[in-house]
Amino acid sequence: MAIGVHTPLSIATLYVYVSKDEKIPVKGSTRYSAYQSNCYPELNRCVNTFSLKDLSPHSTYYFILSNGTSSIGSKRKFRTLADDTDLITMVSGGDLSTTPETKLLLVKAASYSPDLVVLGGDLAYDNGEIKNIGLWDTWLSAWEESMVTPDGFTIPMIIAIGNHEVKGGWNATVSDATLFLKFFQQQGNQTYFKRKLGKLALLMVLDTGHIASVEEQAPWIVKTLAEYSNTPYRFAAYHVPLYPSHRKFENDQSAQLRKYWAPAFDQGLNFALEHHDHSLKRTYLIKAGKRDDKNGVLYLGDGCFGIDPRDVHSDSWYLVKTMSVAHFWLTKFTKKKTQMEALDMSGKVLDSTEILNLKAM
Ligand SMILES: [Fe+2]
Repeated sequence: MAIGVHTPLSIATLYVYVSKDEKIPVKGSTRYSAYQSNCYPELNRCVNTFSLKDLSPHSTYYFILSNGTSSIGSKRKFRTLADDTDLITMVSGGDLSTTPETKLLLVKAASYSPDLVVLGGDLAYDNGEIKNIGLWDTWLSAWEESMVTPDGFTIPMIIAIGNHEVKGGWNATVSDATLFLKFFQQQGNQTYFKRKLGKLALLMVLDTGHIASVEEQAPWIVKTLAEYSNTPYRFAAYHVPLYPSHRKFENDQSAQLRKYWAPAFDQGLNFALEHHDHSLKRTYLIKAGKRDDKNGVLYLGDGCFGIDPRDVHSDSWYLVKTMSVAHFWLTKFTKKKTQMEALDMSGKVLDSTEILNLKAM
């Protein structure tokens, strides 16, 4: 677990105290210093990242910030996944922005007590520009206030990068995504990486050509799928869709992604979370560029977690369901099956599907 804290330059010393004891006693806590602090004098701000080590599975942790002599702000808590859990609840979505609808969707998403949220890029729409820091302040405040479960647990996020996190959108460098990469040190400056969710699922977070090249990730996807072939569910989250619902099937970016990634996904991916088109979609199961109801990959999308919905095409061969509507996906992994539901801000189920755990059959 990592904790990101933004502070004014006047706070010279900052620690976080972490404990399983709700009182966070000084002697019974672990004190962490930031492993990375990036200061922006022009913004009167430092962005501090604390990396918590050696956490136990299936535990509640309380934490509070301190300047060394007194605490700062209020206490918060989070929980870790049980290693052998039979239920993981995940919210996912992308293309949020800072609209009032974003906040309503976040509040609704948190009400399902997800263990984590996977975000598929285009969060605050800063476009890699420091002058847009205010968008992040609004975005992060909405997250801090809204993404708390009914039992009071702060909900962690895992994020894929989108075009609006970088200057120029595509084929950019690390310095073109300075805010995003400084705020969210998930794997250093690496924008594709994997996360294991208990024993049930493997998540690959990918970069659809914003900083890392699409081509270079293909062999890594194949290798990772082989490495985790015994994990019941293997899925990927990334920004630009291989199978778009608003943009045309032939658009250059989707075509390039299909060329390099679809054959890699066919080596054992169960489902993919796609975004960027600002709509709701579910595809048929697809393998080797064709519908394959038995062995195909399911593609869910398409990123409309607050941003205005766009119109959709529904007559494409690969689309089962499309809607022009703000939503998020709620996914429940269990030993028998994984269930996915698309929900709107009132909690209405717009679409649902499931995949079985073939390894348990
Ligand atoms: Fe996008």
